[in-house]
Amino acid sequence: VSTFNEYLKNRCSHIETLLDRHLPPALPTANQLHEAMRYAVLGGGKRLRPLLVYLTGEALGVRVEALDLPACAVELIHAYSLVHDDLPAMDNDDLRRGKPTCHKAYDEATAILTGDALQSLAFDLLAKTTPLLSAEQSLHMLKTLAVASGSSGMAGGQALDLLAAGRPSDATSIERLYHLKTGALIRASVDMGLIAKQDATTNQKAALGEYAHCLGLAFQIHDDIQDIESDVATLGKTPGNDQKNQKPTYPAVMGITAAKAQVRLLQHQAKAALFCLDAPGNYLGQLLDHVLT
Ligand code: IPE
Ligand code: IPE
Ligand code: MG
Ligand code: MG
Ligand code: MG
Repeated sequence: VSTFNEYLKNRCSHIETLLDRHLPPALPTANQLHEAMRYAVLGGGKRLRPLLVYLTGEALGVRVEALDLPACAVELIHAYSLVHDDLPAMDNDDLRRGKPTCHKAYDEATAILTGDALQSLAFDLLAKTTPLLSAEQSLHMLKTLAVASGSSGMAGGQALDLLAAGRPSDATSIERLYHLKTGALIRASVDMGLIAKQDATTNQKAALGEYAHCLGLAFQIHDDIQDIESDVATLGKTPGNDQKNQKPTYPAVMGITAAKAQVRLLQHQAKAALFCLDAPGNYLGQLLDHVLT
């Protein structure tokens, strides 16, 4: 376990350094948008999605440096999704990663533009030429992240999430929504790790695809459980917001016990998928336990 913790610490500080380098500098003379972008991205977050890019690539023997750009890109998209998710027109949250939300620290217009600019920066990074990836690989990653972020992915899921508020729902509709709003970026993270490996086998693709599919759903259900059971200091966000917003979350609709059982089942399924992957010493399995407990 201590080696996994060391891995996490090293990777997270590597990710922080890269994000810091790729974000525009917040010079006193520069416009406030740059500062707000840095505020929304740096100094917080579990960095789950970049970690998935690295761990997937590393499980397949890809060099870490070849994974840097997609790892940053997906975290920028994620950070943008959080800034917009917190806006008054969406979840109306005041606290994120233990700090005031972007629109509270700045203002709504700045928060909207921060999200826009983070999204653009993500694709700008994937469009960079690098000797570590072929142009085809970069283009494939760009397409993968674009589809996962858009109306058939995260943004589409967010639209369904808003539509669902205050209405009765059922497990099937909730799962479909979660696979989009949260699962899409998690699957894209794993997919980009796979793309970095030129010749991943069908078995590797299937195993990692199953892993990401299960993790995406389990991660959102776990987040919903935390919203009910955890406290502000642990979460770094205000608990109870789902109920306040009348969100038909998985635990709200199915009950907290069933929700916890579902997370365990998916965690188990995700781990089982890894058995088909011959990647000794890789931490994808430990990452599951880390983010789902
Ligand atoms: C929060 O994501 C939003 C969900 C999709 C559940 P994370 O729990 O990964 O948020 P950070 O990046 O650690 O702040
Ligand atoms: C967020 O779901 C999913 C996104 C695509 C951002 P939530 O609304 O439950 O995320 P939190 O709880 O605010 O982090
Ligand atoms: Mg939301
Ligand atoms: Mg929210
Ligand atoms: Mg939540």
